[in-house]
Amino acid sequence: MAEFITMDQIDAAASQIRRQTAQQPKVGLILGSGLGDLADSVTPADYIEYKDISGWPVSTIPGHKGRLVIGNLANTPVLIMQGRAHYYEGYSISQIGFPIRVMRKLGIHTLVVTNAAGGINPDFRPGDVMAITDHISLMAMGGENPLRGPNLDEFGTRFPDMSRCYSVDLIQKAKMVCDREKIDLQTGIYVCLAGPSFETPADLRFLKLIGADAVGMSTVPEVIVAAHCGMQVLGFSGISNKANLDGSTITTHEEVLQAGKEIAPKLETIIRGVLALL
Ligand code: HPA
Repeated sequence: MAEFITMDQIDAAASQIRRQTAQQPKVGLILGSGLGDLADSVTPADYIEYKDISGWPVSTIPGHKGRLVIGNLANTPVLIMQGRAHYYEGYSISQIGFPIRVMRKLGIHTLVVTNAAGGINPDFRPGDVMAITDHISLMAMGGENPLRGPNLDEFGTRFPDMSRCYSVDLIQKAKMVCDREKIDLQTGIYVCLAGPSFETPADLRFLKLIGADAVGMSTVPEVIVAAHCGMQVLGFSGISNKANLDGSTITTHEEVLQAGKEIAPKLETIIRGVLALL
């Protein structure tokens, strides 16, 4: 695939999906590392493997199933990405945004994104859930912006505003659900790095200094593309490990998947609750 996505590629993928499901999802969900089980409670579910959709980036990472699950969750028609591809797997940054544009083309106007992240904020513990209030797009600042290349005017303007990427209204709904369900909800700023190596202690001290509360390797490219095309976004980081600012511990993918087991049920409750309020 060429570096930049074309309208024809987006149209082709959307048509393939429409041919395989009669359902009309209104909310898109992206389930990150170790968080995919929520898709198992979708009914009636239509499944489409990413590899069967032309142009769809396929994840190679353990903990990512790599399929769309389309159906109802909390009485809401949803399209769930059970697993996502990451930039570090070798895709171009605009390919990472491709699924979002296909979702928009299918009529989806709300996106819920989840990821696993390292907790930089000293108040965060592994197992916490953080609602993302804003992000630091270090990769985009460095030139890897998913909107780089010809602007697709059908989706949005060349120079889109990024001051309201995360819906205040949806965060408020998430807080209401958490109050009701007695779940502690953290809020904070997510920073996305390219990965796949985890951060050095000096990287982490830098990220803390610039105001990041959690660090991961996803989400921001998708959110930039969603904001460009006017979708409202709700984002959550599952804090899977404490960021190792002093070099005293090591971080592993197994640890990330293990923490997902504690985080997944909380996120499931929050997401179901928010969907029921839409
Ligand atoms: N750093 C980056 N990405 C991550 C981490 C981390 O500590 N934990 C889970 N994803």
